[in-house]
Amino acid sequence: MAYNLLKGKKGIIFGALNEQSIAWKVAQRAVEEGAEIILSNAPIALRMGELNKLAEQCNAPVIGADVTNTDDIVNLFTKSQEHFGGGVDFILHSIGMSVNVRKGISYPENNYDFTHKGLDISSLSLHRVLQTAMKMDAINEWGSVLALTYIAAQRVFPDYNDMADNKAYLESIARNFGYYYGTKKHVRINTVSQSPTRTTAGSGVKGFDGFINYAEKMSPLGNASADQCADYCVTLFSDLTKMVTMQNLFHDGGFSFTGVTQAVIEQMEK
Ligand SMILES: NC(=O)c1ccc[n+]([C@@H]2O[C@H](COP(=O)([O-])OP(=O)(O)OC[C@H]3O[C@@H](n4cnc5c(N)ncnc54)[C@H](O)[C@@H]3O)[C@@H](O)[C@H]2O)c1
Repeated sequence: MAYNLLKGKKGIIFGALNEQSIAWKVAQRAVEEGAEIILSNAPIALRMGELNKLAEQCNAPVIGADVTNTDDIVNLFTKSQEHFGGGVDFILHSIGMSVNVRKGISYPENNYDFTHKGLDISSLSLHRVLQTAMKMDAINEWGSVLALTYIAAQRVFPDYNDMADNKAYLESIARNFGYYYGTKKHVRINTVSQSPTRTTAGSGVKGFDGFINYAEKMSPLGNASADQCADYCVTLFSDLTKMVTMQNLFHDGGFSFTGVTQAVIEQMEK
């Protein structure tokens, strides 16, 4: 059901790779709620071609940008300002990658070149996008910026590896930049901490099946799906949440505040 929550709003969605991607669902949901969007992803992801399907559905232009490259981001905002005839009202940062995870290098053994690359893509990119947007005045008054994160920023999940550090940094950037952009232009910046979700990035984590089943059992409401995450993101882009900023918001069926559940106790008693 649509409520016209984003009627007249314009946004940029980073990170839709395929139908499983959280960003894919957010794009569909934002358009359903009346928004006009631009889709962006790394050039290598665009070459896979899947994004064109979503672009057609959403009547959205696709503008490639490697988020580790400032020139690419400047180009994206220049084109978005031309396309929309002004700034945007919302941005979704749905980007994450760790070379250490991909190569199965455990946390104590991390290769620092890989660590740097993962940090640049997964965390610093939020700063880069915000800094570029601020310089170019590319986000409208009371705009809303969201980045997706995971609870491994606060608690240890060993196989999440250096992505845990990347997420802690990402959440800190949202808080700190949220102060500056808030005072300058009332732009609000938050992170949404989502349940484990079956996507390309998610499934790359070692032992993901055990991980997702455990979270399901440890959450009073069960795991939140990508579609439900999209619903939540849409509310945070809307004018109904104008005074929410600099927060890390758990969207996880209650996992983050649950000590133990009956389902887990029963499993342990077997
Ligand atoms: N899947 C989960 O379990 C889960 C849980 C909590 C948070 N998240 C977060 O949600 C976000 C989206 O991930 P997803 O699960 O939808 O997986 P996904 O693999 O569909 O999305 C990750 C995206 O990052 C993009 N990307 C990688 N390098 C890039 C670069 N240099 N420039 C631009 N884009 C680049 C990829 O092309 C891809 O579209 C990530 O931040 C992820 O950490 C995922």
